[in-house]
Amino acid sequence: MGMKYKDKSYTVEERVDDLIGRMTLEEKIGQMMQISFISVSTEEAEEWITRRCAGSFLHALGDDAKRLQEIAMNTRLGIPLLFGIDAVRGHALHNGATIFPTQLGMACTWNPELVKKAGRVTAKEVAADGLHWTFSPILCLGRDLRWGRINETFGEDPHLTGVLAASIIQGYQGDSLSDPDSILACAKHYIAYGEGTGGRDAYDSQISMRKVREVFLPPFRKAVEAGCATFMSSYQSIDGTPVTANKRALRGLLKEELGYDGFVVTDWNNAGSLISNQHVAGDMETAAKKTIEAGNDMIMNTNEFYEAALRLVRNGIVPEELIDDAVRRILRIKFKLGLFDGRANSATVAGAYPGSGSAAHNAVGQDGSIIGCKEHLDTALEITRQSIVLLENRNNTLPLSGTEKKIAVIGPNADDIQSHFGDWTFLSHPEPKPDEAPILPVYTILSGIREFAEERGISTVYHKGCDIMDVEDEDISGAVECAADSDVVVAVVGDCLRQNGEYKDRADLSLSGSQQKLLETLKKCGKPLIVVLVSSKPLAMPWAAENADALLAAFNPGMFGGRAVAEIIFGEVNPCGKLPISFPYHSGQLPVYYNQLPGWHGGRYMDMPGRPLYSFGYGLSYNCYEYSGLRLSQTTCTADDTVTVYVDVTNAGPYDGMETVQLYVKDVISSVVTPVRQLKGFVKTEIRSGETKTVEFTLPVSELYIIDENEKQVVEPGEFEILVGPDSRPESLLKAVLTVL
Ligand code: BGC
Repeated sequence: MGMKYKDKSYTVEERVDDLIGRMTLEEKIGQMMQISFISVSTEEAEEWITRRCAGSFLHALGDDAKRLQEIAMNTRLGIPLLFGIDAVRGHALHNGATIFPTQLGMACTWNPELVKKAGRVTAKEVAADGLHWTFSPILCLGRDLRWGRINETFGEDPHLTGVLAASIIQGYQGDSLSDPDSILACAKHYIAYGEGTGGRDAYDSQISMRKVREVFLPPFRKAVEAGCATFMSSYQSIDGTPVTANKRALRGLLKEELGYDGFVVTDWNNAGSLISNQHVAGDMETAAKKTIEAGNDMIMNTNEFYEAALRLVRNGIVPEELIDDAVRRILRIKFKLGLFDGRANSATVAGAYPGSGSAAHNAVGQDGSIIGCKEHLDTALEITRQSIVLLENRNNTLPLSGTEKKIAVIGPNADDIQSHFGDWTFLSHPEPKPDEAPILPVYTILSGIREFAEERGISTVYHKGCDIMDVEDEDISGAVECAADSDVVVAVVGDCLRQNGEYKDRADLSLSGSQQKLLETLKKCGKPLIVVLVSSKPLAMPWAAENADALLAAFNPGMFGGRAVAEIIFGEVNPCGKLPISFPYHSGQLPVYYNQLPGWHGGRYMDMPGRPLYSFGYGLSYNCYEYSGLRLSQTTCTADDTVTVYVDVTNAGPYDGMETVQLYVKDVISSVVTPVRQLKGFVKTEIRSGETKTVEFTLPVSELYIIDENEKQVVEPGEFEILVGPDSRPESLLKAVLTVL
């Protein structure tokens, strides 16, 4: 007895107090350390636990995690380890797990419920592997498409990103962190990381704190409100101050102003980068001091931090209270997760964790576990279906009539599993195993179309045509020959892993290698040309937009991409995806996000259209939806009111379908320059053929705020345009006016 912290009957705070009271300074700083399992030897990993009481590991899976945990449980205080993993689209670093589309793909669904389900599935699979924490969601905005990590974002818009973030966080964390299949979410990368000038990864974001509050904070605020247990501080600097050392952004804005009580983990070696990359510290003590003072609580993969922090406290340079605050935040989460109450001892691969007898857990996958079970795969298939965006469909080329005799599937991404998966799967990153055969079935576009064609007695032929990048490796005449006597050509183009991810920013977003030539030559065959884009991001492909008979964006759709595309091509599914991000005509046209500020002389480059190639919110279906009757519950209001917005949407097409109805707002006159339109709400709803539905939005007037020149959030009186329609283009939107008194 007397070990209060081991006794469940005390509150979390009492248990934390008791445990901190027993810890040495060494043990406390140890708890702040997150060790990269794949960067240390087995002996070093064990020493970090036995000699320094390390708090966390990342990138240890299943049995490795279990072994490390056993060691931790046998140390003096038996403080369990926290295991983190980049399960950013399912538990995808584990071969055999359910793999979802990238976040960008998931965002194309505009379906918060489905995204939440994806989070739940991921949580169950990660928890079944004995792990506790996913470094997801990514709340960076994808506003400069040259950036290598666009695939990881929910797209370009703060509102959509915030709504989907809250959903997936709820999915990961469940009703309570103490549920055995809940895991910790991590809102990353806080903050404005995607805005590196020039689309350069980890480069300075040359923006003001006012801009941070206006554009980049809203999704992170939603994450705090959703109870997100952890945050990750980003690599880059803002106006010259690295976020790692940014007391104003971390301790001030996040912890004090937003009242965030979880913990902040740095990104990979952020503390070391203050010395080696950003040159704001000459040695580790200075770097560690800045890192602690700014408000980082856990240090990812900067192992030298440990000794430096010890010296800083021993020499009175950093007060021990700051260490206590960090450790308190970490321990609090460990208690809330139930790690001290059985979860750490019982975690095993295959989900044999106590409490796993619920119906959901009884579903079994290939290896007898819940990982990759049928129910989870069904969720992945549904989200993939809804993630496919139909961008063109000239003369109703799609769906196919079913009378075709032969389909040619051509192109470098038609049968490339790595491109279908994209980044952050076991094939790619951080420890790529490109030659490992996937345990679960994968549908490439080719295999999906083949399966569907065979069922219908249609034959298929395939030719790669060319490589994504290497122009030496082209056989365009071979591809054309192959396509020659087919009835329709499906050309699958895009990008590849070498062009996607960290350290892979692109200056040129046009189709690389010989892909453009391949498309143009295929077009000359005179067959209907269906282009499918399998890529990490929007590419600049105006020729395909103008010349393809049909164009579909699949992004990196994961394991069911080919199946979902085939269902759409053969008319089993009516496409309903919409773009969470805008496509450019040309790389030089960037940025092309829809919520631009007004005032640009001419509003366009003289040699480029003023609008994007495809706008945010855009996406076709096999139907047409008609919008009418936009009305407001009141046309004048005060800042405290909530207004209801109604619009009638008619499905005037032959198919039942799902439409995403979007609400934008324009502040007519504001004290600072505000966007031409800003998304403030959306509703995805099923509408049957011939049916008219009245769609309703609840709009709190407080949402019409601006961040004024003093960085204050205010609703200014005046007129606001309320714009509702199927996408963000001005010509698509109905307009009403709301006056704030
Ligand atoms: C990335 C993070 C990731 C971390 C751990 C970093 O390079 O920026 O998004 O969570 O590595 O793998």
